[in-house]
Amino acid sequence: MRKLIFATNNKHKLGEVREMLDGIVEVQSLDEAGLHGEIPETADTLQGNALQKAQWVWERTHCDCFADDTGLEVDALGGAPGVYSARYAGEHCSFDDNINKLLTALDGNANRQARFRTVVCLIESGAPRYFEGKVEGDILTERYGEGGFGYDPVFMPKRFAVSFAEMPTEVKNMISHRGMAVKELVKYLKEQ
Ligand code: IMP
Repeated sequence: MRKLIFATNNKHKLGEVREMLDGIVEVQSLDEAGLHGEIPETADTLQGNALQKAQWVWERTHCDCFADDTGLEVDALGGAPGVYSARYAGEHCSFDDNINKLLTALDGNANRQARFRTVVCLIESGAPRYFEGKVEGDILTERYGEGGFGYDPVFMPKRFAVSFAEMPTEVKNMISHRGMAVKELVKYLKEQ
C-alpha cells in the first residue's frame, strides 16, 4: 500500500486521520518516520503553516507527505485566535490554558459563534496541493466531555447538542473541519 508521512505526533490527530485513510494509504507519524525536532510554524496563514510543515518533512525524506494546520475563529474576538490557536495563551501553554483564556475573553458575551478551519497540504514528488474543511459552531460557557483534544470540550458544532469532546471519533470525523479536509484528500487519492 502507498505510504504517506503525516507531519504530526499528536495521537488524537493521528487516530482521527488514520481512521479516515484506512485501506487507502498507510499513514506514518513523524516518530515512525524517524523524524525528530520541532517543526517551525511561523507563517501567518493556515495554508502557509501547512505548507511549511509538509515541506519540512519533504526536505528531510523526499517521501510523499502531508500536514494540516487548524485555526479556531471566534466571531466576537474578530476571528482570533485563528492561526495562533495553538499558542493563544502563550508559548508552551496547555490546551487547558487556551480554553481558560477563551472562556474568560467571552465571559458574558452572548455571541458565541465560531468555526474551526483546516488546511491540509499534500506534497507529492515535491509539488504541494491543498484541501480545506470547516465546521461552524458555538463556544460553550464551560467544558463538556473527556474525548478529543484542544478546544473540543468547549466547541459545539451546529445542529448538535453535544461538544466535540462528547462525540465518538467517527462522529467527529464525519462533520469536523479536519474530517472535511481529509475527505477531500481521500477523494483525490482515490481518483489517482
Ligand atoms: P494545529 O495547527 O492543527 O496543530 O492546530 C492548532 C491548534 O488548534 C491546536 O493546538 C488545538 O488547540 C486546536 N485544534 C486543532 N484541531 C482541533 C480539533 O480537532 N479540536 C479542537 N482543537 C483543535
